[in-house]
Amino acid sequence: MKVYNLGIIGFGSMAGHHFKQIGEIEQVCVRGVYDINPERVKAAEEKGVIGYRSKEEMFQDPEIDIVLVATTNEAHKDLCIEALAAGKHVICEKPVTMNSAELLEVIDAAKKYQRVFTIDQNRRVNKDFVLMKRSVEAGLLGDVYVIESRVEGSRGMPSGWRTIKSLGGGMMLDWGVHLIDQIMYMVPEKVTNVFCKMFSIEYPEVDDNFHLTMTFESGLVVHIEVSTNNYITHPRWYVLGKKGTLVIDDWNCDGKIVRCIDKENKWEEEIVYTKAGPTKTMAPRNPNSTETIVLSEPEDVVDNLNPVYWQFIDAIEGKAELTIKPEEALRVMKVMEGAFHSSQTNQAIETNI
Ligand SMILES: NC(=O)c1ccc[n+]([C@@H]2O[C@H](COP(=O)([O-])OP(=O)(O)OC[C@H]3O[C@@H](n4cnc5c(N)ncnc54)[C@H](O)[C@@H]3O)[C@@H](O)[C@H]2O)c1
Repeated sequence: MKVYNLGIIGFGSMAGHHFKQIGEIEQVCVRGVYDINPERVKAAEEKGVIGYRSKEEMFQDPEIDIVLVATTNEAHKDLCIEALAAGKHVICEKPVTMNSAELLEVIDAAKKYQRVFTIDQNRRVNKDFVLMKRSVEAGLLGDVYVIESRVEGSRGMPSGWRTIKSLGGGMMLDWGVHLIDQIMYMVPEKVTNVFCKMFSIEYPEVDDNFHLTMTFESGLVVHIEVSTNNYITHPRWYVLGKKGTLVIDDWNCDGKIVRCIDKENKWEEEIVYTKAGPTKTMAPRNPNSTETIVLSEPEDVVDNLNPVYWQFIDAIEGKAELTIKPEEALRVMKVMEGAFHSSQTNQAIETNI
C-alpha cells in the first residue's frame, strides 16, 4: 500500500480538523505545513511535521504527493493552480473558488498537468442528509415535490474573514455551498430557476442569512435557508411527498414520516368548527387514518472526512472515478452565482444548470 505525503496550505481551524482526521487514514500522512502566519507554521512544527517557510518550498518538495488547500477562500484558486503545476494532486476546501470562472481555470490546470483535483464537500455523508435521501429514494413519501433544508444559529456569524466580502465571507459561500451540493448530488436534474433573498443583519458587507428557492426540471422545489439570527429553529429537513411528509429535527436524526393509510377518509358532511372558526379543508384528520414511521440515525454511515480522502486516493490510483467531481462543484458555483444575482436584482433567475 502506497502512503501519500500531504502538504497543508493554510493551517487554521479546518486544517486542524483534517490533521486530526488524517491520523485515522492509513494511506495519507501529513508531511508539512505552510501558512502566511508564521505562528501557525510554528504550531505545525510543534505537532512534529515540517514547517515550510514558503509555499514554493512545499511545492518543490518532491516527497509531497498531495496538497490540501485550506486557506481563506480568495486564495484557493491561485494556490490550487500552483500546486497542480508543481505536479501535486490537490484537494481544496469549499467553496472551491470565489466564482465559476475561477473554478474553470483550476479545472483546466488539472487537465493540463494531469493531476487529480477534488473538493472537500464533506457534508454529503452527514447522517441527517443520508437519512432524508434514503427515505426519499426508497419511495417512502411517494413523489416528492418540496424539500426544505435549513441550518439555523442564533449567535451571529463568527467574526474575522467570514464577515469580509473580498476574502469570500458570507453564509452563501460558507454553508450555502454545502446545502446546495447535497441537493444537487441527490437530484439528477437541471436547475431551471433560482430565487434568493440575502440579508445582512449584522455584517453589512456579506450575507449573514439567506433564503434560496431552486426549481428543478421536474417541478421539484427546494427551499434552502441559512440563518445566524434565529432564536427559534425550524426542523433541519421538511419534505413533502404525494403520499407522506417527512421531518428530521436535527443533526441527531430525530425524525419521522407520517403517511396516509386510509384513502377512504371521508369528508365531514357538516362544516367543522375549530378554535379558529369553521373549515372543512383544514379540519384535523382522524389519527387512525395515518401511520408514523419513526426515523433514527443510520448506523452504517461514516460521517467524517475519510470518505472524501478515500474517493480521492481511489481516483489517484485509477481504481475509480472521483465521487466529488470538480464539474459538480461548478454547477453548485453557478447556482450560487444565480442566487447572488437574484438577490441583487430582486428577481427570479431562469437557469439551465
Ligand atoms: N468543509 C467544511 O466543513 C469546512 C468547515 C470550516 C471551514 N471550511 C473551509 O476551510 C477554509 C479555512 O477555513 P478556517 O475556518 O479554517 O479559517 P481559519 O481562518 O481558521 O484558517 C485559515 C488559515 O489560512 C491562512 N492563510 C490565509 N491566506 C493564506 C495564504 N495565501 N497562504 C497560506 N496561508 C493562508 C491563515 O493564516 C489561517 O491560518 C475555508 O475555505 C473554509 O470555507 C470548511
